[in-house]
Amino acid sequence: MKSNKDIEQIIIKSPGRINLIGEHIDYNGGNVLPGSIKHKLTLKFYKTNNNQCTISSEGYGSFKFDIKQPLKISSNQWENYILGVVDGLNKKALNELNGFDCIISGDLPIGAGIASSAALECGVAKGLNELFDLNINDEDLIDISCKAEHNFVNNKCGVMDQFTVIKGQEKKLLLLNCATLEHKLLSVNFKNYKIVLLNSNVNHNLATSEYNIRREECEQALKIIQDQYPEYNFLADVPEAVIKSLKEKFPKKLFQRAIYVSQENARTLKAASLLEEDKIVDFGSLMYQSHKGLSEKYQVSVPELDFLVDLTKGFPQVIGSRLMGGGFGGSTINLVDETFVKEFINIASVEFKNKFNINLTPLVVDISNGVEVINSGLNGFAKHNSFEDVNIPGN
Ligand code: GLA
Repeated sequence: MKSNKDIEQIIIKSPGRINLIGEHIDYNGGNVLPGSIKHKLTLKFYKTNNNQCTISSEGYGSFKFDIKQPLKISSNQWENYILGVVDGLNKKALNELNGFDCIISGDLPIGAGIASSAALECGVAKGLNELFDLNINDEDLIDISCKAEHNFVNNKCGVMDQFTVIKGQEKKLLLLNCATLEHKLLSVNFKNYKIVLLNSNVNHNLATSEYNIRREECEQALKIIQDQYPEYNFLADVPEAVIKSLKEKFPKKLFQRAIYVSQENARTLKAASLLEEDKIVDFGSLMYQSHKGLSEKYQVSVPELDFLVDLTKGFPQVIGSRLMGGGFGGSTINLVDETFVKEFINIASVEFKNKFNINLTPLVVDISNGVEVINSGLNGFAKHNSFEDVNIPGN
């Protein structure tokens, strides 16, 4: 029987993710409702006969490193997503990795708030795990991918993106408890409503630093609560009433952050029940509430995203809209009547261009499988040097 050790090359498809509700909740130990999407990165890996690794990406160029030398953080940020994962795998698998080449292409927009970075990290983690038969389980691959982002990229992300990219399933949303990683698969049944993303193409430099600041603020807020109530381990678990009872102990900003987190966690659980009860319109109202909280209390929105959400309020065919992902740019997620999708996209594009002079990029998404090994083999396909050449079976 052929063992993975004989495999010389492998193709991985690694998806982006959406999140219906539960934003900035994962690192607070609460519940989120994401799903992996059909837009994916394609990563093609080959073993080499030496210790050299070459990574090539459509759009980002290429770089090289020696797999047997200690890996250092690069000044070129996108390289860190890969270097961080390779470093984590090397430590976990005690240097069982050898030289490899990797060619990255795909149709996943970067900076759109749909977790292209997690797709890259998890795609590399899964691909090298298979190629070198490392036997690392999915939970550890998720952990290695998150730590790559913390330690090499310096973005102190939660677990939602990496978990979804690895564990996502076609036509299912994951109701994920980020403290325990327990999760439930919910059928995506938005009836006649489509999930439409509007990418603002705004990408503020502050995104990473402000993200890390939000995380620190939540840690400070939790400490204030724990002084009185040491039984709470996560901010998302603290009921709103408890936070309100301690109002005078908080600086105003921290109070707002804590209230948002408590409310958003409760909203996510409510939203999941509404989805199960087929109450889609009520589900959509919670998305609007989520955006209001993100914009006013958590302060991670920008005028461009507020504009896009406000615009939808004039259309009864749109039942829910909010910013998605870390904020400070990226996309809004909208539930739009299928008969109105085209018109909605046209109107939003024109109004957005008039207001900000920026072209919107719309994306209608379907929920698809998490990371997949598409093909592997001894000599299953020839080595290609250009992205156009990459022939993906079943693509
Ligand atoms: C980014 C992070 C996630 C999560 C979201 C906000 O996508 O990578 O961990 O915190 O922002 O919900």
